[in-house]
Amino acid sequence: NTSNVIREHCKELQLSDDQISEMMSRLLEDIQLGLGKNTHQKSIVKCFVTYVQDLPNGTERGKFLALDLGGTNFRVLIITLGEKHFDMKSKIYAIPQSIMLGTGTQLFDHIAECLANFMKEHNVGEERLPLGFTFSFPLKQKGLTKGILERWTKGFNCSGCVGEDVVQLLKDALSRRNDVQIDVCAILNDTTGTLMSCAWKNFNCKIGLIVGTGSNACYVERVENAELFDGDRSKPYVVINTEWGAFGDDGRLDIVRTEYDREIDQHSINPGKQLHEKMISGMYMGELARLVLVKFTKQGLLFGGRGSDLLFKRGNFFTKYISEIESDKRGSYVNCRQVLDELGLSHATDQDCGNVRYVCESVSRRAAHLVSAGVATLINKMGQENVTVGIDGSVYRFHPHFHDLMTEKIAQLVTPGIKFDLMLSEDGSGRGAALVAAVACRDQSRRH
Ligand code: BG6
Ligand code: GLC
Repeated sequence: NTSNVIREHCKELQLSDDQISEMMSRLLEDIQLGLGKNTHQKSIVKCFVTYVQDLPNGTERGKFLALDLGGTNFRVLIITLGEKHFDMKSKIYAIPQSIMLGTGTQLFDHIAECLANFMKEHNVGEERLPLGFTFSFPLKQKGLTKGILERWTKGFNCSGCVGEDVVQLLKDALSRRNDVQIDVCAILNDTTGTLMSCAWKNFNCKIGLIVGTGSNACYVERVENAELFDGDRSKPYVVINTEWGAFGDDGRLDIVRTEYDREIDQHSINPGKQLHEKMISGMYMGELARLVLVKFTKQGLLFGGRGSDLLFKRGNFFTKYISEIESDKRGSYVNCRQVLDELGLSHATDQDCGNVRYVCESVSRRAAHLVSAGVATLINKMGQENVTVGIDGSVYRFHPHFHDLMTEKIAQLVTPGIKFDLMLSEDGSGRGAALVAAVACRDQSRRH
């Protein structure tokens, strides 16, 4: 029976308890290398210090601008934090692929233009407002307003930016235009933005997680463990951006990688890089499922061995299809058939639909388990009794079972006695960026 054969083949997408526990100890080792003064240089999981040391306490006030670059959408925001109210207006601007793969100057000119237009539309073109910049790529931070780009990830690859301070690149672009003034108060990762945004509502929130286009996590670490931190060591904590998407780039994930993962990597714009992220995140998940479906079709296990040009073409099985297919009630294939119709596979039988769903579930469950292993590693390392994880990203937000899969898996993996919960970030990391900027401005004005 073909379904049984398919199930058998999908076993390589299942992570055994042993594999998960091995991965958790490897990730913990890598995190420790990243934090260490003498080991950071050669570490794969970079654990960058963020210079964010204070979570919001609810007294943050003022009017802020924010930029949010690196997820599905590029957004410009204006946020007012008041005593009783919180107001946020934002606009999404497109970033054409030609800019994502063009020069750094083109990218930052485009960002500056969107920001200037936005400021004028909101009648703050004449003001000099503080700005928080959510920049969702690995940055070696030198301070709250200085971050050197280590590498591009996901779909970006602009020339002339790696090794540069991206705050300076933004400022340069703005001075080339010379029509608006801003005060960059902070640059931060989207994980940090998510953590701050959630911590504003929930004081137990100590981890920020993204399962979206990419995947990454940050957490609150004790300053004494952050050996490279050269900021205020009198404060007890600092947020660490793990950049765990790069986990495995030295081969340490090969124990769980499959032929599909290798193919994804080979055809990506950054081969050999971000191997953990490529097994998890939205930019790759649909394509992973497609590769599995193609293989089964070619083996005659699906669609009577008859695929379609659309199915055989790279990038054509969108990650949102997985969420749609898994949203069908058990035994019903309404969404599944719609997806298969779109792909020119209307000759699929009910059995094919069941098998397609099984493939999708195998891919998304593996992603959820990988993320859970990472989250549990952080929770266990922090050793706090009660932790909330703030989460954002299209995969977590839109996949119908991701939250439940994670809750179940993390519960199995955390040290007994530890309680945790998973909280969806409602307003993206824009508010987090404003909060970091607000805390920074608060500190600045205290110092002067
Ligand atoms: C958004 C955040 O809500 O989620 C971004 O504001 C973040 O900062 C993004 O990068 C991650 O999700 P995705 O799916 O858009 O990559
Ligand atoms: C990539 C980026 C990282 C970001 C994540 C989620 O892994 O390198 O900085 O947090 O995507 O957007």
